[in-house]
Amino acid sequence: MRLKDKVAIITGAANGLGLAAARTFAREGAKVALTDFNVEQGRLRANELRDEGYEVTFFQVNVADRASVDKMVESVASIYGGVDILVNNAGITRDAMLKKLSVDDFQRVLDVNLTGVFHCTQAALPYMLEKGWGRIISTSSVSGVYGNVGQTNYAAAKAAVVGMTKTWAKELGRKGINVNAVAPGFIETAMVEKVPENILDGIRKTIPLGRLGKPEDIANAYLFLASEESNYVNGTVLHVDGGIMM
Ligand code: CAA
Ligand code: NAI
Repeated sequence: MRLKDKVAIITGAANGLGLAAARTFAREGAKVALTDFNVEQGRLRANELRDEGYEVTFFQVNVADRASVDKMVESVASIYGGVDILVNNAGITRDAMLKKLSVDDFQRVLDVNLTGVFHCTQAALPYMLEKGWGRIISTSSVSGVYGNVGQTNYAAAKAAVVGMTKTWAKELGRKGINVNAVAPGFIETAMVEKVPENILDGIRKTIPLGRLGKPEDIANAYLFLASEESNYVNGTVLHVDGGIMM
């Protein structure tokens, strides 16, 4: 088991990539805090994983709200005795062309996808410093690296996640904490289902592997960065996108 007895917080884990990561981490022996804004779905998924025999507990959180994040991290640490791994996976889209993008939708995406990553990382950090070991993994996106039509807000936040990741990798490396990001391409989740089919068809044609990714493709990348196998990997952005960036 690659994560035996590690305590892992995964945000946005009631669906999509986070849910796949929760299952993968639990299978590898981690104690998983499945955290999400969506209480009903989060409880349901945590119960399903527990029924499969895994050590998983649901905690509600709104990553955009600092009080909510502090409460969640404190609860996880008091129940499981610390925090070893944080996966900053929660994210939203509010796509619109620049000329139509509202200030509210610009701000909301930054609040969740950027400030949320800051909140969760700052709240979990003391527990990792205490142990002198930690793994922080944040989810960027191809959109944050090469831009995407209709995603001013999202691309800005995901690019900023890369900047924070590299900064924290430099600040925390000597403290035994590795900090990395994953930049997924287009993966089959509810988020991508919102893209109009004709546009998605065009995107699919640009992927050298000829298919969208699966949530497990990203969960495996998170697992590598959370495990001891990535001991000498720090400040990197791991592109898991079927080659769309070439
Ligand atoms: N690539 C290329 N062209 C695109 C495009 C894309 N991704 N998205 C939109 N366009 C083009 C349209 O084809 C259209 O072209 P024409 O004017 O030549 O017809 C033009 O941009 C305007 O688009 P719409 O007519 O659809 O304008 P709208 O105002 O009705 O809708 C939109 C705008 C909401 C951005 C809509 O086009 C849309 O949803 N596009 C998809 C955006 C997208 O790719 N989002 C990714 C979501 S998944 C995700 O975010 C995960 C991740 O990290 C990758
Ligand atoms: P999803 O929409 O399937 O799941 C996102 C989860 O985050 C949901 O369960 C939602 O309730 C939760 N969430 C939303 N706002 C929250 C908040 N304020 N606090 C706590 N939880 C919140 O999305 P998906 O596809 O699984 O995306 C996961 C991450 O991967 C996101 O950061 C996304 O931007 C990123 N990503 C996704 C790609 C894709 O193609 N699906 C590609 C690149 C990046």
